[in-house]
Amino acid sequence: MKWYKGSKRPRHVLSAKDFDREDLERLFRRADYFADLMDRAKRGDKQARKDFRKLRKIGRDFFCYMLFYEPSTRTRLSFDTAAKNLGMNVAGSESARHFSSGAKGETVEDTIRNLNGFHPFPLLAMRYDQPKGAAQAAAVAGMMPILNAGDGHGEHPTQACLDLFTIFREFDRLDDLTIVIGGDSLMGRTVHSLVILASLFDNVHFILVSPPDLQLPRKYRRIIRRNGCSFTQETYPLAAMQQADIVYWTRLQRERFPEDFDPDTFAGYQKLYRIDAETMTYMAEHTIVMHPLPRNGDNPALCEIDLEVDQDPRARYFVQAHNGVPVRMALFAAIIKQQKKLWRAGLLA
Ligand code: NCD
Repeated sequence: MKWYKGSKRPRHVLSAKDFDREDLERLFRRADYFADLMDRAKRGDKQARKDFRKLRKIGRDFFCYMLFYEPSTRTRLSFDTAAKNLGMNVAGSESARHFSSGAKGETVEDTIRNLNGFHPFPLLAMRYDQPKGAAQAAAVAGMMPILNAGDGHGEHPTQACLDLFTIFREFDRLDDLTIVIGGDSLMGRTVHSLVILASLFDNVHFILVSPPDLQLPRKYRRIIRRNGCSFTQETYPLAAMQQADIVYWTRLQRERFPEDFDPDTFAGYQKLYRIDAETMTYMAEHTIVMHPLPRNGDNPALCEIDLEVDQDPRARYFVQAHNGVPVRMALFAAIIKQQKKLWRAGLLA
């Protein structure tokens, strides 16, 4: 137990490295409860609706700030929903580079020092445009817990939690799995956090499919090995698909490429790293297809997951996105529990 272990500090979520296997098992039990409760409530179960309403007691003394320096839809709104489901007040700035004092040149450290004093029991979910932004924030946040909602081309640990939770709900295990990861593993922060978390389990094999210039950085490959798991690297997707339990596909993040990157090469990558109905014929029946979303919908012919794949029973990316709420609720609930403990011990001030 690492993340859940008692401590005199807030339970930040800065990196996927904050968790061990036991933590995830515990987190997923809680997320599973929340997911089932929401499901039953929706289906007309009166008791479930009552129990769901009671969850608001958990966070009613708390205020959740949301500071997003990069665009976001799912992450921001699922954090927001999760916080409100637990009764927290929520306020924040989307596009904080433009709308917050970040536009006037305020450093993130100064911004944090302000938020920290607005409410007796604050929390902060933050997306930043540089790696280690959340850690930078935590260093000046005092006793305010920080959740990293993605930091540039660094990490996206809460996304990895919901990704793994999705796999767990599907396979009822996290050991003995082959995960094909495709697209941009160089700058894909969801991939970075996912390999850190998934390699905590036994006998997980990764097949990393990407063009040679978008390969997973060496430090993450090292972590896979250090955790006792294995990987192979491929340039072409099809052979890998046949071996996959999970196909985790990602977007080529145009905005993170150098501005002078050759457009023809980029278009070539888009054509090659694309899943369509034909690609699906290479996958086993039990394989599931995941994607952190958004997918690139500008030109449907170049979208990395063809819209027709949505009809395939193996597509899981929307379920995966929905899992963002119960997983973030479980994270918040654990963080709040720790804050209450620190408060009782007089350690919050
Ligand atoms: C991703 C992100 O922002 O890192 N999306 C997400 O949070 N669900 C992936 C992406 O932008 O391609």
